[in-house]
Amino acid sequence: MAAFAVMDIDADVWNEQVAKGYDESSAHMYAPEVLGPTVSFLESRAGRNPALEFAVGTGRVALPLSARGIRVAGIEKSEPMVRELGDKPGGDSVAVTIGDMTTARAPGTFGLVYLVYNSITCLLSQEEQVACFRNAATHLGPGGRFVIEVFVPELQRLPPGETARPFHIGDQHVGFDTYDLVNQQLVSHHYTIVDDRGSTFHSSHRYVWPSELDLMAQLAGLHLSERWAGWKEAPFTASSRSHVSVWQKPLDGPVSR
Ligand SMILES: C[S@@+](CC[C@H](N)C(=O)[O-])C[C@H]1O[C@@H](n2cnc3c(N)ncnc32)[C@H](O)[C@@H]1O
Repeated sequence: MAAFAVMDIDADVWNEQVAKGYDESSAHMYAPEVLGPTVSFLESRAGRNPALEFAVGTGRVALPLSARGIRVAGIEKSEPMVRELGDKPGGDSVAVTIGDMTTARAPGTFGLVYLVYNSITCLLSQEEQVACFRNAATHLGPGGRFVIEVFVPELQRLPPGETARPFHIGDQHVGFDTYDLVNQQLVSHHYTIVDDRGSTFHSSHRYVWPSELDLMAQLAGLHLSERWAGWKEAPFTASSRSHVSVWQKPLDGPVSR
């Protein structure tokens, strides 16, 4: 019988222990076929301008983007995650502002602000998600772009009357989401066993529709310029499970805040 290390659902998710294991537990997001197109897409949208990653984490995307010659900065709330970034080769090339992406200000003006790997859903209220768009717009110069990668809510896959949906069932890992349909919230639950040692990980999210994100962009003075099913620019369709969207700041004219 495996011994389980149990994590409280309300605990601070991005703590020291999670930060240390983040790259290993997100190994699939480091796969060249995932990370390569991500970085190429962002590089092309940045042009020659500096880029800012909201929720930069351990630098999964920021470091390879910086290695392509783009000046990259970050905003991140978790100090343990930032320490992991700083300890990596090239880590000192990414200037990180510790703070909340809804309010923190990184020095400078950027041609690209990006927020990937579903991290907009870490903001658990509509107010915070709107504030995040406004903060992105504040950092952008004229014509600058805000790019988000996020899943499409999977409510079509939730049978009527049910509140839980498994997303992975394996020998060493079981993962499922539980939904609060009234408050537009979900909790992802992970149960993992490695070498007879078990651990749990829970993260809370506010799922959000593409159309709602477009309205948030509008409130921040941005307009939708691209929407794809992924980084390889496949068309976004009714069956797409996630999207990469780009909103742009006007080249001139006032921006509502
Ligand atoms: C799924 S990780 C993504 C990290 C990195 N962007 C990547 O793609 O690997 C989510 C990150 O969001 C950060 N985060 C969550 N809420 C935040 C907030 N309000 N402001 C800034 N960072 C936040 C967490 O600390 C964590 O590093």
